[in-house]
Amino acid sequence: MPAQLIDGNALSKQIRAEVAHRTAALKARGVQPKLAILLVGDDPASDVYTRHKVKDSTETGLLATLERHPADLPEAALLARIRELNADPAVHGILVQLPLPRHMDASHVIETIAPAKDVDGFHIASAGALMVGRPGFLPCTPYGCMKMLDAIGCDLRGKHAVVIGRSNIVGKPMAMLLLQRHATVTICHSATANLAAITRQADVIVAAVGKRNLLTADMVKPGAVVIDVGMNRNDAGALCGDVDFEGVRQVAGWITPVPGGVGPMTRAMLLVNTLEAAERAQAD
Ligand code: GUN
Repeated sequence: MPAQLIDGNALSKQIRAEVAHRTAALKARGVQPKLAILLVGDDPASDVYTRHKVKDSTETGLLATLERHPADLPEAALLARIRELNADPAVHGILVQLPLPRHMDASHVIETIAPAKDVDGFHIASAGALMVGRPGFLPCTPYGCMKMLDAIGCDLRGKHAVVIGRSNIVGKPMAMLLLQRHATVTICHSATANLAAITRQADVIVAAVGKRNLLTADMVKPGAVVIDVGMNRNDAGALCGDVDFEGVRQVAGWITPVPGGVGPMTRAMLLVNTLEAAERAQAD
């Protein structure tokens, strides 16, 4: 029997509806949740992503502003603008779109954002909070993956979860979240010897490398849950993930499609984080 689909479009719709509901409640108390997005330069993909973020926010009742700055903006000017937004009580979330122009130090820029407004979850304080199990902001992609596992009722305790990829934005935080749920976690990466032998032991696989057909049917244990974070293009130019979907779906128990899987969940979780930032600011 082919795997059941984990439908990121449907689940993200539910999450957006919850965000809209909670946002309306905040607004009724006179609080307008607000996300400030900073875009530096004219990278076409970043332009599309940031416009999506504004649209998603508006549709759920959040206010999002998109500030565009020229590619030659001095780093000091960007830092000064971030500090202004940090100090503005009407702004609850700050997002600096990456990549930044080469003359800027992305870590320095991100770490200038107040941790209480770090709705991307990229600040070192957010990463540290996740590491030690304290409240903070979770990076949107791994957060969305956890919501997908929860939606199918996946009990992770004692399961073997294999994360392929070790980025600071997806692989590492994903591994921490799975560990928090008492899974036994293996992180695989480009230097891993015999990847297939490891993935074949996995009850849950999260593929987050950015390489087409990285995970094939022979690498998957029957019934495993497969989450595909990849965003690649196939030879025909169509969006595809890291997983050989048609092959792996014959073996897995659950699988996320690309498109319509993790992507919409990542978008939805930014809205959740922004709302959460606004709610926390009221509780302070
Ligand atoms: N560039 C690509 N994806 C992202 C994201 O999720 N956040 C930010 N800040 N930049 C990105």
